[in-house]
Amino acid sequence: MEKKIVVLAGDGIGPEIMASALEVLEVITQKSEVTFTFEAHDFGGAAIDSCGEPFPKSTLEACESADAILLGAIGGPKWENVENTPEKGLLALRKALKLFANIRPITVPDVLLDRSPIKEEIIKGTDFVIVRELTSGMYFGEPRFLGDTEAYDTNYYHEAEIRQIMRQAFKIAQGRKKQVLSVDKANVLATSKLWRRVAEEVALEFPDCTLSHQYVDSAAMKIIQNPRAFDVIVTENLFGDILSDEASVLPGTLGVLPSASYGETGIALYEPIHGSAPDIAGQNSANPVSMMLSASLMLRQSFGLETMADQIEEACFATMEAGLLTSDLGGTASTSAFTQAVIQRIQGEEK
Ligand code: NAD
Ligand code: IPM
Ligand code: MN
Repeated sequence: MEKKIVVLAGDGIGPEIMASALEVLEVITQKSEVTFTFEAHDFGGAAIDSCGEPFPKSTLEACESADAILLGAIGGPKWENVENTPEKGLLALRKALKLFANIRPITVPDVLLDRSPIKEEIIKGTDFVIVRELTSGMYFGEPRFLGDTEAYDTNYYHEAEIRQIMRQAFKIAQGRKKQVLSVDKANVLATSKLWRRVAEEVALEFPDCTLSHQYVDSAAMKIIQNPRAFDVIVTENLFGDILSDEASVLPGTLGVLPSASYGETGIALYEPIHGSAPDIAGQNSANPVSMMLSASLMLRQSFGLETMADQIEEACFATMEAGLLTSDLGGTASTSAFTQAVIQRIQGEEK
């Protein structure tokens, strides 16, 4: 199997954790039939610095011909005040590849039970998925305007966009506990009233699953109060962004949460849910697990390489189990020390 992986390392800790994940992928495929060609391209702030725009045409063309895309993270204080920000580049990439579904699995492995500020008995066994709509809603609605004394954004959803993400959520639920929770603000927002109606319609196509609804404010509370109650949460772009960062408090850090984005073209993108962490960039202290697990998701979902995907997951958890933790989890391990320990475990298993 030969595959082309487009690598967008990005900014801040992006290149640090990407280097870790690529090293792991190289080691894991070494003695296999799988050959990955990694093709690095400028993206985000790094691309602004090198060619004046966050999402150059050459990067788009590379992504369009990729078998899968790995993205580190983009953004940072250096590019906050430019016209065409790294964040705009990221939104343009998602839109260009029609990546409408962002899947964010939230689990708490036993090894992290005592790392969370939430009590162990509440988080033990947490295992749900946030299905975040990624190419519409408040992020893309027009018109938008920023004046000196006034500003506005538009939250827009078309029925077809809601139907598409709902179907994705139900399909995911069919492989799990078959419980879909649609999160909205239908007591206030017109978009949410449409969202709820379409959710009900799509539910009829999936009689083996249950659908319930919850307002986003209440869901935000329940995620912390009783996270085990959730199976599949489907929600609009902005709510999904916020709820998933909140959910990272359950495993104790953003640094262990991966994501996968799927679209209409068949090319999927894998990235951590967190950002470029400018506060710790350049210190060799970032937790690379989020990026390694994103690579593992790529192996599983894009290429069906289940065994290798499992190996990466197990090596990450076993390394943490052995007491090696980065500073976000209260430890002192550096990014590179953690990475080498994961690699040694993978190589140990192969012997
Ligand atoms: P952030 O997610 O970068 O960081 C939030 C906190 O989590 C920080 O304290 C950071 O140190 C910590 N953290 C995040 N990932 C970590 C890891 N792997 N290991 C250890 N600690 C980690 O959020 P922010 O600070 O609000 O945003 C910084 C920049 O990143 C902004 O420019 C933002 O727009 C951008 N951003 C990009 C993406 C993306 O590329 N997909 C996602 C979110 C934010
Ligand atoms: C994420 C990020 C992005 C988002 C930003 C950087 C545009 O927070 O991927 O979660 O809001 O989608
Ligand atoms: Mn976010």
